[in-house]
Amino acid sequence: MKTCLYPGSFDPVTQGHMDVIRRAARMFDTVVVGVLHNPDKTGCFPVEKRVEMLKKACRDLPNVEVIAYGGLLAQLTRETGISIVIRGVRNASDLENETAMARINRQLNPELETLLLPASPECQEISASMVRQLAAFGADLKPFVPPEVLPDILAAFS
Ligand code: PNS
Repeated sequence: MKTCLYPGSFDPVTQGHMDVIRRAARMFDTVVVGVLHNPDKTGCFPVEKRVEMLKKACRDLPNVEVIAYGGLLAQLTRETGISIVIRGVRNASDLENETAMARINRQLNPELETLLLPASPECQEISASMVRQLAAFGADLKPFVPPEVLPDILAAFS
């Protein structure tokens, strides 16, 4: 059984995240989506809501599980025994950040490998922060977020 972990803030889940999740779900028997609960970072959606929205968006993907985690990613991989982390890369800046994170995580857990997946072209410009900004100004979010969570996002910004 090959399992990978896809960690992130998912505040909120976007079509860019779903691109990574769908592709990972085709490559691995199980994909565990880990939603970071960071008490120091005041996000937009509480972690429970982010988990709920991801579960809705992934309901047609039977091999995808969603969990919340706190603390270090390397610690989570030790605790779960998942040795493959997958992350999406949209541009050069992502590549630099993700490579640095992958190296640090591997130093903390030498069993851990990070796979970087280039974003699909249609998802290259999508980010959760951009979605939050568009939502705040009432823009059409349909191209950027999974339809299952659109009502939740609209409700939060109404
Ligand atoms: O969606 P994001 O904000 O790009 O996700 C980043 C995330 C949550 C994967 C990363 O910040 C993380 O794993 N944080 C947990 C703390 C940690 O392990 N830090 C050391 C790695 S640099």
